[in-house]
Amino acid sequence: MVSEIPELSNPSVCMRDPQRVEEILQSMVKAGSNTVQVIADFDMTLTRFAYKGKRCPTCHNILDNSNLISNECREELKVLLDTYYPIEIDSARSIAEKLPLMVEWWTKAHKIMVQQKIRKDLLATAVRDSDAMLREGYQLLFDHLHEHSIPLLIFSAGIGDILEEVIRQAGVFHSNVKVFSNYMDFDESGLLKAFKGELIHIYNKREGALLNTGHFQELRTRPNVLLLGDSLGDLTMADGVQDMENILKIGFLNDKVEERKQSYLDSYDIVLVQDETLEVPNAIILHLTGNK
Ligand code: TMP
Ligand code: MG
Repeated sequence: MVSEIPELSNPSVCMRDPQRVEEILQSMVKAGSNTVQVIADFDMTLTRFAYKGKRCPTCHNILDNSNLISNECREELKVLLDTYYPIEIDSARSIAEKLPLMVEWWTKAHKIMVQQKIRKDLLATAVRDSDAMLREGYQLLFDHLHEHSIPLLIFSAGIGDILEEVIRQAGVFHSNVKVFSNYMDFDESGLLKAFKGELIHIYNKREGALLNTGHFQELRTRPNVLLLGDSLGDLTMADGVQDMENILKIGFLNDKVEERKQSYLDSYDIVLVQDETLEVPNAIILHLTGNK
């Protein structure tokens, strides 16, 4: 079966247990694509990590780099990024150790953004003017899932309003797409006054999933999950799925490859090393829907 998907031999692909991947895929093909749902992280999973040697922005960075915030705030947000991003990707620290620091990062960044009274009507322009890029092959991924009525949950610790705009401008915000993320709350004059609901950060996606039992209840006839992530925090995105039968976890390893490779191999079924494309997930989706 794995041999039926030539993309799994791409040089970017690493698997701890190819036999196990084969078994999961066989089981999913047998169950049929009408039992499948896809759960994907957004930043650095559906979007590119780098393009032509330059880092691509996260949802937060789209605002950091825009003229919707002052230069002074931009500096402050940059200091936060330079402080906390190395912690996010530090393989020497445990998740338990990083978690409170990540909460600190998100809380401080959101506080600064709220102080800037960001205008809702300017978000679309900020996205249009940004360097945000979905990974190569995004059109096939979104369109094919839509054509086959396979639900796609985008589960992001980024900013919902921004990521929706990215996929809307790319023309792929189809009706099968649902988003769990941090949404902005605007006052009656359209100025950012807060973020809505419980904060989603990189390490509490499990809690976020459990807050949305209704969504997973609706999808209970789809116990086969394809999970796409780039952080070890993304592994808990499917924790709300009811009566799960199979899960195939695909992880993009973008940065600090040598230090983190073993932990990614231990937790993701397929690890894609510095692969800026969606070629492998697309090949798997085509395989599951019998198109290949
Ligand atoms: P996610 O991809 O797991 O949903 O997490 C969102 C990413 O956003 C994570 O990699 C860290 C990043 N981030 C920023 O780039 N700037 C910020 O101010 C914050 C709070 C997060
Ligand atoms: Mg991510």
